[in-house]
Amino acid sequence: MKEDASPDFENYTKTSTVYDVTRHPVGIDYMVEQLLALEKEGRLTGLDVGSGTGNHPLELKAKLPNLDLTLLEFNDGMFAQLSSKVAKNHADIKVQQGSVLNMVQFKDNSFDFVMMTQVLHHITAEGLDQDSVVTKVMTEIHRVLKPNGLILLNTSSKDQIERGIWFSVLLPLATAEVVKRTCPIANLMAILAIKFSRVNRVANFELLQTLPVDLKASKLTSHLKLTKENPTEPLSTIYQEGDSTWVLATDTEKSDAQTKLATLIKNDTIFQFFNDRQKETDTFGQTTFVTGYANK
Ligand SMILES: C[S@@+](CC[C@H](N)C(=O)[O-])C[C@H]1O[C@@H](n2cnc3c(N)ncnc32)[C@H](O)[C@@H]1O
Repeated sequence: MKEDASPDFENYTKTSTVYDVTRHPVGIDYMVEQLLALEKEGRLTGLDVGSGTGNHPLELKAKLPNLDLTLLEFNDGMFAQLSSKVAKNHADIKVQQGSVLNMVQFKDNSFDFVMMTQVLHHITAEGLDQDSVVTKVMTEIHRVLKPNGLILLNTSSKDQIERGIWFSVLLPLATAEVVKRTCPIANLMAILAIKFSRVNRVANFELLQTLPVDLKASKLTSHLKLTKENPTEPLSTIYQEGDSTWVLATDTEKSDAQTKLATLIKNDTIFQFFNDRQKETDTFGQTTFVTGYANK
């Protein structure tokens, strides 16, 4: 799919085959809570934009079976994975390929809610700066929402990218690139406030999977299955291909990161490093939800 959006910096056709290894439906309980409030009013029709492999909508449908969902995904590989997962789950969900920048297939006032998780930093449009892209996306989402329809966005703040994600300190250049591509939460809320009311933000949802705390190690070491016997898991190709920061890192930066980790392991300070990083994640979280209701 080449029309309607500039090429993504991440090769999602490649990423689509490994995406589900490290990613999970972040903040699903919060989303269920928001959608339950709509369901009580009989408002069940929703659009998920940039569905990826469908982790969020499939989980939401399992928890709220009455939802009437349509999924929109741009990338060929992600769309193929999404279609096959939806078919396998026999879910009553409609799947379409296309871009949020131009949703001509959907009429004005079609949906009770539109959700979009971890997509905004991937959207670019020829000749437009970041705020203009976000404004264009929000205008299109507002158009397809019914009056008082809910927008449910998940993104990350600068602090969350720089401090909440453990490997950011190992990849400062790639991290700066991700920050550059991510609309600051304050700008996003200001853009939303033009066409939406009750604009709100809630932070601290973890993007990457966390497993139960291993008493001998931090949550992160447990998540990464990082042990002295297996110190390179976070540098595995599968791990890296599912994450935008690693994708943006140059070979030199990746090799520097590997050297830094090797030194931490050699000096026996690796678990201290992960404990310190975990404290930052606990303080800042990794993602933020922003919500609002369409004024019409
Ligand atoms: C980080 S993934 C997020 C996937 C999923 N929402 C999740 O949270 O797991 C970003 C997704 O946005 C899609 N995407 C990028 N630009 C898009 C656009 N203009 N319209 C629709 N989807 C787009 C990508 O193909 C990719 O699948």
